[in-house]
Amino acid sequence: MTGKTAVITGTTSGTGKVAALTLAELGAKVLVLNRASDRSTASFAELTTACPDAELQSVECDLQSFASVRAAATLVREICPEGVHVLCNNAGVMALADTATADGFDVQMQTNHLSHFVLARELMPLLERAADASGEARIVNHSSIARMSPGKTLLPDYLEENGGRLGGDGSQMENLMFRGARWIRYNQSKLANAAFTAALHDRLQQRGSNIKALVAHPGLANTHLQLTSVREGGMGSFFTGLFMRFSQSPEDGAMGILSCMCLPSAESGQFYGPGSGSSAFKGKAEPFALESFYDNAETRDLLWSKSEEAIGDTFVI
Ligand SMILES: NC(=O)c1ccc[n+]([C@@H]2O[C@H](COP(=O)([O-])OP(=O)(O)OC[C@H]3O[C@@H](n4cnc5c(N)ncnc54)[C@H](OP(=O)(O)O)[C@@H]3O)[C@@H](O)[C@H]2O)c1
Repeated sequence: MTGKTAVITGTTSGTGKVAALTLAELGAKVLVLNRASDRSTASFAELTTACPDAELQSVECDLQSFASVRAAATLVREICPEGVHVLCNNAGVMALADTATADGFDVQMQTNHLSHFVLARELMPLLERAADASGEARIVNHSSIARMSPGKTLLPDYLEENGGRLGGDGSQMENLMFRGARWIRYNQSKLANAAFTAALHDRLQQRGSNIKALVAHPGLANTHLQLTSVREGGMGSFFTGLFMRFSQSPEDGAMGILSCMCLPSAESGQFYGPGSGSSAFKGKAEPFALESFYDNAETRDLLWSKSEEAIGDTFVI
């Protein structure tokens, strides 16, 4: 990755933290985008201590705010005149309460998808610059097994300005059937990550672009994600403790996004993870094809038009 610039969201813990460290160790210039917090300060200090010779930059970016994302993109443009070779939209939250962001959207949909849609739009000229100079650039999204459960249909309501009015705070997940409204909103946001990749891939290919669109899932990885969900009332601590016995390490969980970011053989339109099924909790990250329940013209167009409407801007590839 020497000579390449990577931008990664959500690197205070979990898969993003592993990805930032790995990219720095592999010689990339790495920009980490996080909201301001002690976790952000401490994780950046750890990164700089671990890789004292690497070119590292920390950029404040709160994915709950479109204004913050746009300000972060302005800073990235200043820091990266050479362009951006890899944008990894990794950050995410899970099973939070039914609350609206200041922009009026569901907190999970805005954090997990809509703000990453803004970021990709804002950084597209930098990705094009890097692709022109070095032959390719990549956008990597982070989805989940939850893209499949409970529904496999992306619904417009969840992408609209309906924050706080999307079903309430039900957290029911008996027998791994994620029926509570918190889980339906997470499902929709992770389905949106996959549909965004499919739509990006389709549009980039139509334009003959050498920017690749890829998506990964980490299986079930033992990160901070579940701790936050427990703290916010989305999961019971006893059940979570049992459930996480089936998990893999954050390092193994990060292999999907790392494959998408780094592997020379990774192609646009591929999905990397420990299998494509609903029980693909752990194992080697392998590529599989995008799935027809979101990689279809209707869903790709819905995702794009509703995301443009939400951010109040067109995103023309
Ligand atoms: N772990 C799993 O089993 C699993 C399974 C499927 C998918 N995933 C996906 O993997 C990705 C990474 O999650 P993880 O498991 O590594 O969890 P994690 O350890 O909780 O990391 C999530 C990251 O997202 C950041 N983030 C949350 N809200 C943010 C905001 N408003 N602005 C900026 N950053 C924000 C967090 O930063 P803060 O410190 O500021 O909160 C943290 O750095 C997520 O997209 C998640 O949906 C994880």
